[in-house]
Amino acid sequence: MPHKVDENWGFASLTVHGSGGIDPLTGAVSPPIYQSSTFAFKNAQHGEDLFKGEAAGYIYSRLGNPTIAGLEKEMAFLEKGEAGLAFGSGMSASFNICISLCSAGENFVSSNTIYGGTHALHKKVMPRLGIEPREVDATDLNNIEKAIDDKTKYIFIETPANPNLSLVDIEVCAEIAHRHDILLVVDNTFATPYLQQPLTLGADIVMHSATKYIGGHGDCVAGLAVSTKEFINHCRKMSLNDTGGVLSPFNAWLLLRGLKTLTVRMDRHCENGMRVAQFLAFHPKVEWVSYPGLRYHPEHELAKKQMRKFGGMIAFGIKGGREESKRFLDNLNLCTLAVSLGDCDTLISHPSSTTHSSYTDEELAEANIAPNLIRISVGIEDCSDIMDDLNQALRKI
Ligand SMILES: Cc1ncc(COP(=O)(O)O)c(C=O)c1O
Repeated sequence: MPHKVDENWGFASLTVHGSGGIDPLTGAVSPPIYQSSTFAFKNAQHGEDLFKGEAAGYIYSRLGNPTIAGLEKEMAFLEKGEAGLAFGSGMSASFNICISLCSAGENFVSSNTIYGGTHALHKKVMPRLGIEPREVDATDLNNIEKAIDDKTKYIFIETPANPNLSLVDIEVCAEIAHRHDILLVVDNTFATPYLQQPLTLGADIVMHSATKYIGGHGDCVAGLAVSTKEFINHCRKMSLNDTGGVLSPFNAWLLLRGLKTLTVRMDRHCENGMRVAQFLAFHPKVEWVSYPGLRYHPEHELAKKQMRKFGGMIAFGIKGGREESKRFLDNLNLCTLAVSLGDCDTLISHPSSTTHSSYTDEELAEANIAPNLIRISVGIEDCSDIMDDLNQALRKI
């Protein structure tokens, strides 16, 4: 029998047991994978009724699938929203949210410190559809407010931001958005709903590259959004169903499995993240460290206000130039030199030459993405092994 979920349970219990858990049909504790592209109609009238929306049920997996629906329900539950929507990637989530909210001739205001792929979507794709992106330095929210006009449809922020770990005050940003009668969209990839719940702080739509901490094992690419039933239905029907960037049932199952261990993984990422940040902050070969948990991080007080813990992502700069950074990266053994983040494995990268190479040098400077910035996604290995590896590679500079 499905057990009764108590919303007052701690987050770990909620992620393990989910919003309803066990499959009512069979009692399966792990949800079934409905690996089917299509679903048989009972008769011709049933098919017509399903298409008209006059009967409930599944038609075709681009339009909906029970395993994917299970994941959407869990994410909505954990993000404290009314409904969720799964996508084939985080980029598909960003794109579909944008075209659900904006038409040609309209604009949106975005932080300029965001994932490089999202920046490319804003700068290269949306203008071709007649939608104008207005990227500004969002660490000063006056810049956001000044960029809004009567054609602005939403504000987009990432907090903590990829790759420099700057933060934006979600509550204040939501107040600005609502004062102008527009929506606030928050990319919550770095924090996850365990560390930060943007909808409870006033945001209207929360999205994820679920490829990262939600999956947690580096084995699938996926995106998720959570919002009101009204927006999710609109985004599904007016955009995702027809543009088609959907998730596969198997990847939905991997994400449901990932969610079960989200809390324990995040606790370990946070614990290791704090220790590695402190280690780097005192290292003679390191010029600077950006980690929201360090007392001197410019938004440390804000981090304490809007996040439960400080996460597993760190940005830091090595003394010297590009050559020193390359030598450091090439000498690592345990830390894997790769893009992506949020995996069990520690991943390390040089954003301005990889994930953020869509930025011009001028844009990098405006977004405070230093040429020597190295981004580390601290994994769940033994922390002493991570620090030993960083130390031996730093000593080779
Ligand atoms: C913060 C953030 N948002 C969105 C994306 C895009 O997600 P995906 O790679 O799943 O398409 C990424 C990818 O790295 C990201 O880091």
